[in-house]
Amino acid sequence: MEKEKKILYSGMQATNTLTLGNYLGALKNWVNMYEEYECFFGVMDLHSLTVRQNPAEFRKNARSLYALYVAAGLDPEKNCVYYQSHVPTHAQLAWILNCFTYMGELNRMTQFKDKSAKHADNINAGLFTYPVLMAADILLYQADVVPVGADQMQHLEITRDIAERFNNLYGDVFTIPEPYIAKAGAKIMSLQEPTKKMSKSDENPNATILLLDDKDTIIRKFKRAVTDSDTVVRFDEEEKPGVSNLMSIYRCVTGKTYEEIEKEFDGKGYGDFKMAVGEAVATELEPLHKRYDELMKEKSFIDKCIKENDEKAYYFSNKTLRKVHKKVGLTELIR
Ligand code: TYM
Repeated sequence: MEKEKKILYSGMQATNTLTLGNYLGALKNWVNMYEEYECFFGVMDLHSLTVRQNPAEFRKNARSLYALYVAAGLDPEKNCVYYQSHVPTHAQLAWILNCFTYMGELNRMTQFKDKSAKHADNINAGLFTYPVLMAADILLYQADVVPVGADQMQHLEITRDIAERFNNLYGDVFTIPEPYIAKAGAKIMSLQEPTKKMSKSDENPNATILLLDDKDTIIRKFKRAVTDSDTVVRFDEEEKPGVSNLMSIYRCVTGKTYEEIEKEFDGKGYGDFKMAVGEAVATELEPLHKRYDELMKEKSFIDKCIKENDEKAYYFSNKTLRKVHKKVGLTELIR
């Protein structure tokens, strides 16, 4: 691959709808990256299969995720936005990298431990090798940077370890990717238990703002957000995790600094503050909702983008796969 611009790679699982955490920690930061990087963003549907899915709903969710990417401002004509499962090189490289990854390394992954505890009746091999598929995603495109939320850091580290191990054996095959963690929004917390990350799978619906929640729901959830017995709006993650989380959300959507926010709510109670955060988030999401509704009706536009970008992703990723085949000694394809 010719490297004029550096390469950026990221993606999200196609499970349920996105949360405000996914949006502020990842998606919102992706939309202008194409100016500086050659960007690839996947709808990570193969990863979603590690948890049992209802087929019809799953297909709908993947489509909805693609539309949400675009509605949030990710231009599929400037970024390669594609479906992971449509590009066979991902599964092919993942198999090879499985043979260069140790059980001990995978055993240490906290996401594996968390998910196995949550889905004790379905601790499948895919869940265990999940990070290897993620490494394949990233390494296939020779990505220089991978923008993710803080929770994906460990997966990025194992990706780098696998790539370095492979390069040590076979020469410079893979670019070693750098994580890119946003300064604001990298870890949005639950609105009900602010020491826990906001997550799609939270059982308490008030804990999570879903990206497609309507305005009233957003405001209601913020009004119910857990704070503390104090009354001062001040950033202190240790002592005031609930208020600090709301401040960081407010900062992401308004661009104000923590100092400015503290000043704005000086002498006002938590009620006013929560209302302002709710209003600001609802206002931020309003154009996204409108565009999303339009896109879900414009079937042919999305179909065309998926087709073109699937082909582009295959073209780029196959170059790396062919190189890997050659390096490890697999016999070349006869065409
Ligand atoms: P996923 O689908 O769990 O999350 C997508 C992105 O959202 C970020 N995120 C958050 N950021 C801030 N606060 C939160 N509460 C929060 N919750 C989620 C995640 O860090 C992530 O950036 N394994 C990946 C998907 C993936 C991938 C890849 C990512 C598959 N292959 C290759 C990058 C490169 C995942 O589960 O993300």
